[in-house]
Amino acid sequence: MSKVAFGKTPDGKTVDLYVLQNGRITVKISTYGAIITSIEVPDRDGKLDDVVLGFDDLTGYLGKHPYFGATVGRVANRVAKGKFTLNGHEYTLATNNGPNTLHGGLKGFDKVVWKAEELESGDGPSVRLSYTSPDGEEGYPGNLSVSILFTVTADDKLKIEYTAETDKATPVNLSNHSYFNLGGKNSDTIRDHEITLNADRYTPVDDTLIPTGEIAPVADTPYDLRKPTVIGARIDRLQNEPRGFDHNFVLNNPDGKLTLAAHVYDPKSGRVLEVSTTEPGVQFYTGNFLDGTDKGKGGVAYKQHQAICLETQHFPDSINHPSFPNTVLEPGKKYSQTTVYTFSTR
Ligand code: GLA
Repeated sequence: MSKVAFGKTPDGKTVDLYVLQNGRITVKISTYGAIITSIEVPDRDGKLDDVVLGFDDLTGYLGKHPYFGATVGRVANRVAKGKFTLNGHEYTLATNNGPNTLHGGLKGFDKVVWKAEELESGDGPSVRLSYTSPDGEEGYPGNLSVSILFTVTADDKLKIEYTAETDKATPVNLSNHSYFNLGGKNSDTIRDHEITLNADRYTPVDDTLIPTGEIAPVADTPYDLRKPTVIGARIDRLQNEPRGFDHNFVLNNPDGKLTLAAHVYDPKSGRVLEVSTTEPGVQFYTGNFLDGTDKGKGGVAYKQHQAICLETQHFPDSINHPSFPNTVLEPGKKYSQTTVYTFSTR
């Protein structure tokens, strides 16, 4: 475990980068945005490469970008029209995604500086990042204290454990927005990657990506990813614009125990990523909005379908859908979610 200076925010706050490694894999985490800036893992020949999109320096992250590696909250994903009612009170959030609120609003958890504490947990090197979101921040009720423990384990897992507590009822939905391309830094799109999702159902959306409320079976639709599926060929069967996956899949995970959600394989490099989570859903997003304008690490222009996101979370707009799993955290209760990314090769 080591810590390096990453720079300063425009208002003078110091930002550090924590480096967690186990001798094979190296993960870097920035205190700005609790952002995972890099994950280096070996391919089937032992060659290391960075498998997440992002920038070489803090300046890149301080600019406008689509949540590369970021922790998203207080409510990840969309809240329809930026409005919800809780305990008889209507709350209004800033809208930052067409008519809706996305990933916490104008200044979400991806744009604040987190406090860090280095730990050597039984499982491996860890860093705990914490942030207290004040009552009313981005329109949300209650002082919410959030803590995230990132650990790199001896068996090549990156474990992320989130907890949160509040002093007023508030919706909470935390996730990480890493963009994975298992081919590494200079790789082409993820069209050749194979994906398997442990999901029998998904939540269909309207054209602003808000769930209609229906929970539909994936069987006999292009959303059936229960067997290894080549992503590019499947994207070509979709009708949405910009073309690609940007859907919440309902995980086969009825009791909230840590369960396999996704398996991703890159036949070229042999790298495998498995994602397990305690969450009921995963937003599978294929970088549909990337269009070459974001220039990332090494100056690479990130094009459409350059990477995939597997955002483990509660369903989008849950706060406005009583039939979806509950996202309201009450005072005296503890929010927790655990997601584990396991890296291997074949
Ligand atoms: C999420 C959303 C996408 C897109 C990205 C960021 O994955 O579901 O629609 O907004 O974030 O660009």
